[in-house]
Amino acid sequence: MELLEKVAREAEERTQVPAYPVSVEKVLKAVILSGDFWKIVDYSDEPLPLVAEILKILNREGIIAFEGSQILLTEKGAEFVKEANIQPPVSHRCKCCNGRGVVIDETLKDAFEKFVEIQKNRPPAIHCFDQGYVTPENSFARVALADDRGDLRGKKVCVLGDDDLMSIALALTGLPEKVTILEIDERLINFIKEVSDKYNLNIDARVHDLRKPLPKDVVGAYDTFFCDPPETVEAIKAFVGRGVATLKAERCAGYFGVTRRESSLDKWRKIQKVLLDMGLVITDLLHNFNEYVNWDYYEEMRGWQLTPVKEPPKEIWYKSTQFRVETVKGFKGFNEPIVGDIYNDAESSTT
Ligand SMILES: [Fe+2]
Repeated sequence: MELLEKVAREAEERTQVPAYPVSVEKVLKAVILSGDFWKIVDYSDEPLPLVAEILKILNREGIIAFEGSQILLTEKGAEFVKEANIQPPVSHRCKCCNGRGVVIDETLKDAFEKFVEIQKNRPPAIHCFDQGYVTPENSFARVALADDRGDLRGKKVCVLGDDDLMSIALALTGLPEKVTILEIDERLINFIKEVSDKYNLNIDARVHDLRKPLPKDVVGAYDTFFCDPPETVEAIKAFVGRGVATLKAERCAGYFGVTRRESSLDKWRKIQKVLLDMGLVITDLLHNFNEYVNWDYYEEMRGWQLTPVKEPPKEIWYKSTQFRVETVKGFKGFNEPIVGDIYNDAESSTT
């Protein structure tokens, strides 16, 4: 369709985010499903700045209308999607595991219930550290995933940055031999230390700015790492690289999320190449595994300036794909100092 191509080209020009006719089609499909901006970003699986721009152009073209907080197809738009045979996507996600492929079963239940109580007192997410955390079920689903893949029992685990309180979730199961957490936010480290003392978890919790090289004793000392890097190619290289630098050998594993909300597939390709170049194999990619609880500082983030209608998110919209990577012969981490702003690119929206 000519219109799809024209809108994609204009949106790409304005946002500098790679766009295709399919991107426009996905946004239109999402608009058929929901009038809510955040759900449209969620369903379309395109970067937020691109979705916002596509919506504005479609509005100018008379295809969609902004009515209060709602984004709707106009009569012309409804005719267009019908003619172009654009149909809304249908989900077949497993309702039992929410598509994660793992469940929090009997063996993890006690630890999970404790975790749910503990995390109720957690410090809130703050903007200055670009924080945002997943639901408690989500943190534990990650534990279940890592245990399922054989990366926890008797293993030393390093968590780099811990918005999600993974260190507590991991230690509560009693499965890892050792859990270390490096985190810049003193509030979080104090909270983790308090919980560790109270529940006798023996978590090695340290305040550390991950832009600086790792503490010497952490390098090459772990079997498994978890991190949640910011979403630029440079940041993935630096922070996943840090994680890889904690690993002791080949065939060790790393876990982290990458979102489509702030990454086009073109950027994903570069990210995957960076991972492969580090000597990693991507063994698992689980779409929308991670679901982030809406944070309070949404009005301060770039995405809020871009939205065509100003309505706060009501439901979870920020999701990410869970990556599991494994080291093979010749793997190499990254432990150089990180300098300059590597947190922003044209596709980012939550910083
Ligand atoms: Fe399932």
